Amino acid sequence: MRVLGIETSCDETGVALYDSVAGLLAHRLYSQVELHAEYGGVVPEIASRDHVRKLLPLIDGCLDEARISRDQVEGVAYTAGPGLIGALLVGASVGRAIALALGCPAVAVHHMEGHLLAPMLEPEPPEFPFVALLVSGGHSMLVEVQAIGAYRVLGETLDDAAGEAFDKTAKLLGLGYPGGPAVARLADTGNADRFRFPRPMTDRPGLEFSFSGLKTHTRNLWLEHSGSPSEDDELRADIAAGFQQAVIDTMVIKCRRAMQESGSGQLVVAGGVGANRGLRGALRQAGEKYGFKVSYPRLEFCTDNGAMIAFAGCQRLLAGAHEDLVISARARWSLETLQPPGPAMETPS
Ligand code: KG4
Ligand code: ZN
Repeated sequence: MRVLGIETSCDETGVALYDSVAGLLAHRLYSQVELHAEYGGVVPEIASRDHVRKLLPLIDGCLDEARISRDQVEGVAYTAGPGLIGALLVGASVGRAIALALGCPAVAVHHMEGHLLAPMLEPEPPEFPFVALLVSGGHSMLVEVQAIGAYRVLGETLDDAAGEAFDKTAKLLGLGYPGGPAVARLADTGNADRFRFPRPMTDRPGLEFSFSGLKTHTRNLWLEHSGSPSEDDELRADIAAGFQQAVIDTMVIKCRRAMQESGSGQLVVAGGVGANRGLRGALRQAGEKYGFKVSYPRLEFCTDNGAMIAFAGCQRLLAGAHEDLVISARARWSLETLQPPGPAMETPS
């Protein structure tokens, strides 16, 4: 089955064509980062309007790249939540309308299910069951995955998401938006041992996260030590390195604990923060040491993209799931309310 995937939940317009037999045929991504940079964060109305401008040309470009015509599309998958409601409605309306025009089924995809299944686009996909660390701009959670649609949240953040903590730290240090990659780049040049950051909630049992304390710690360090322009660059780098190391250590501790408690031997890491090279390396090392396998999507499929939505939607469509003739989108949507789509599944050869 050949499925068009559409992702418009936040500030990236992503489209892709996925074939259940041949695999990923083409994918395109347009990032709105420059549009939002001057505001220091995503402006929802600007995001929605830009998705309207970019979505159809991206779909045409993707069809051209895959060398297939519109009528060869056999299903449409669109992100229906969670995310910015105006932005989601653009993808949902366009996706539903294209499916209606082509006479094929459409399916609403949960954005985090897309992230969670993204490693399955890789040549050696993880096998069910597994534990997933989902770390993005809006979510931080550990999820036990029995099968597609069978999810149990083992623990999540009590306050800021991991990506949000990176973004806020970047803002505080004057690194601009988006913050994660900027903090990561600077951290490479800093001394992570100059300041001691806490490893939140690691000294008690449980799989919950909390990142807002790290943000406060960053602010206090910056206020206390900054002042001389000649030394501020070094200070910024050392704070970025200390902050990043604290986030990484905390996640490694929680992941190891989740693997022990669940008895699983397979960890999947997904979501924008999963693109962090330090985190990828540290989890790989932990896996080698404690005997669990770690799978990631390729870097470009850690952050938002259309390929993960096309893949997740394809699995659901193959099992017979589809939406009625309605346009549905939800700003909030619990992953645990999803249901398995059914037994039928195809994987690319
Ligand atoms: O999954 P994603 O693209 O969008 C959401 O669904 O939220 O994640 C975006 C988040 C942002 O907070 C961004 O700063 C963070 O992922 N991020 C990173 C890195 N690349 C993106 N955080 C740390 N290190 C990175 N290399
Ligand atoms: Zn995302």
